[in-house]
Amino acid sequence: MSGFNDFAIARALHVLAVLIWIGGVAFVTLVLIPACRGIAEAPAQLELFERLEQRFAAIARWSVLLAGLSGLWLVWRLGVWARFSDPAGWWWMHGMVAVWAIFALMLFVLEPFVLHKLFAQHARRDPVGTMARIQRVHGVLLTVSLAVVAGAVAGSHGGWHFG
Ligand code: HEM
Repeated sequence: MSGFNDFAIARALHVLAVLIWIGGVAFVTLVLIPACRGIAEAPAQLELFERLEQRFAAIARWSVLLAGLSGLWLVWRLGVWARFSDPAGWWWMHGMVAVWAIFALMLFVLEPFVLHKLFAQHARRDPVGTMARIQRVHGVLLTVSLAVVAGAVAGSHGGWHFG
């Protein structure tokens, strides 16, 4: 067959899913949360943030599913399961799975079943502190995700193996 194969398609889907997902996290962290904190009165900030963020959460859920499936396909097609038990140069493989697992847990379990109620309780007592904490957690998640993206692009192209 000429040029195109399932491996190339899986890689393209993987990168597209990651692009929309982590790009959205960057927008939420750097634009949406600061904007919500700036334009609403403190007690209304959480509700405004949750209503706006909900639209992205749905997109993020689909992106996480697609990134996971295409990622698994890539591991299988490349035959690189052994990377997970090899400490040298493959930190970014563990990084991808770790970032995936954290977001999957957040988006499919914690946010709908735990965080929504928890945040509402906290926000009644300390609205400013609750938004500050939400912003901090997003900052940490974004930083780790970007480090893994950079590590995975460099790593996929041999960047962590010298000599
Ligand atoms: C279950 C989760 C995941 C699995 C199994 C997985 C697996 C893989 C595999 C096997 C590759 C190809 C590596 C190579 O060519 O040597 C890859 C590439 C890549 N992955 Fe993942 N991945 C997962 C999640 C993620 C996440 C969450 C991110 C972003 C934070 C990510 C970002 C990337 C990037 C940027 C590339 C490089 C694409 C390129 O430059 O060609 N992956 N992934």
